[in-house]
Amino acid sequence: MSPATIVNSRLLPPYASVLLRNQITARSLSSLPPEPSTLGGLITVIAERLGIGELATGGLQLAVIGGAVAGFRYFGGYFFEFLKKKTIVTADFDSRDESYSWILNWLSDQPYSKVTSRFSVSTSILRVGQRLPGEGLDAITQPVYFLPSPGLHIFMYKNRLVWLNRQRPGNNPQVANNSTAILERIEISTFGQSRDLLQSLVFEAQKKYMDRDRSRTVVFAADQYGAWRRTRSRPKRPLSTVVIPSNVKTTLVDDAHEFLVSEQWYSDRGIPYRRGYLLYGTPGSGKTSFVYSLAGELGLNIYVVNLSNKSLTDDTLGELVTDTPSRCILLIEDVDAAFVQRTKGEATTGLLNAIDGVAAQEGRILCMTTNHIENLDEALIRPGRIDVRVWFGNATRSQAEELFTKFYPNLPQHSPLPHLFASKIPIETFSMAHLQGFLMGHKQRPERAVELVDTWIEAHNKGNATEVTTEDL
Ligand SMILES: Nc1ncnc2c1ncn2[C@@H]1O[C@H](COP(=O)(O)OP(=O)(O)O)[C@@H](O)[C@H]1O
Ligand SMILES: [Mg+2]
Repeated sequence: MSPATIVNSRLLPPYASVLLRNQITARSLSSLPPEPSTLGGLITVIAERLGIGELATGGLQLAVIGGAVAGFRYFGGYFFEFLKKKTIVTADFDSRDESYSWILNWLSDQPYSKVTSRFSVSTSILRVGQRLPGEGLDAITQPVYFLPSPGLHIFMYKNRLVWLNRQRPGNNPQVANNSTAILERIEISTFGQSRDLLQSLVFEAQKKYMDRDRSRTVVFAADQYGAWRRTRSRPKRPLSTVVIPSNVKTTLVDDAHEFLVSEQWYSDRGIPYRRGYLLYGTPGSGKTSFVYSLAGELGLNIYVVNLSNKSLTDDTLGELVTDTPSRCILLIEDVDAAFVQRTKGEATTGLLNAIDGVAAQEGRILCMTTNHIENLDEALIRPGRIDVRVWFGNATRSQAEELFTKFYPNLPQHSPLPHLFASKIPIETFSMAHLQGFLMGHKQRPERAVELVDTWIEAHNKGNATEVTTEDL
């Protein structure tokens, strides 16, 4: 090593170069004899020039060698990072961001995820920590996703070698200890300097995720901090699966369609561009189901607030309403819950501020459901806030018949069974949810359902509501 390279080099750790630079200047080095080509020799010369005695030379020599080694290490790490930067591109995904869901969804569909021997199974493709209690319960069989398990995975994407590192909080004690952060990370890397491959991967994943959403209804729910959290997306529920009088259905659907194209009409008249529906009536009559199928029909997402949630204050409710996008359905479930622990006046003011607020989004469809319309304050449901009220009741004969037909789609066209079944059902006594529950006990056997329905009704009338025949479940 020539003296000049030592001094000029930035390869040494800062303290080493400072040591050298401070004590010997380039000028003094240039006047050194050319002989000392070894480090030891050089140090001896330096020591002499500085007037340090023989004794000090050994120590100094050690210090410089130590410095050089440390420098090399420092430089080595730096060099490795540098090399990595020049040869490897990496994209980093964090479970707190929505892009993480795109990547998980994309991954679950990669051929590699289907063959790897180290895989994890998930019933949700959502970000971690986002599952709400009850999620997926409405599906008969939950979806299952296969994902590469935490750790390093190597696979091919577009004929290029790609490797993926999935880190779970459990693998990282620092994060695991911090209970508030349920953090997962995925790093995807490939060789090269261009980000194109990884960018196209991200766009592909995003598109795939969005496409999946298009055929689905995405549901957002309020979390305890007053923020919307995407909870699940589910296949659009066809309107035909909700059995209510067809005029009610068409009236509401037409009304909503018309509303969505009438923005100009509203603004011309200075009327806030909002629409409100109140769905009230008996429990299990299809109020919630109808809102979901309406959302599917209109292609809107649903933002659900449950007022029985104790941690929800009027202020957070207001913020939530303000934070809904301009085209959506805001669903306030069981709105009478707001009146349980408060006086009518109090609860109404809070609700009204939230749903009427100047900041409340334009273009929004507000749906409120309740089993107890009598408990609501009139002010809350007056025209302008609630434009259409729809009553949902227990099953009529024709509803029972239609439900039966829909439940067994493979029945011959003129089968007498649906009518027979309906004729045995007392009028407006059982909720549709009840009847559906009974039929669920006889999924494959319509004849059996008709046979047993009398016994079931009897048991029910005796107050023995749980006695559902499930012999062929
Ligand atoms: N009118 C209906 N048509 C078809 N299914 C119904 C109907 N009413 C209720 N159900 C079924 O019963 C269950 C509960 O219905 P839900 O919509 O939650 O009732 P609500 O909100 O009125 O209490 C759902 O599984 C739904 O499919
Ligand atoms: Mg409901």
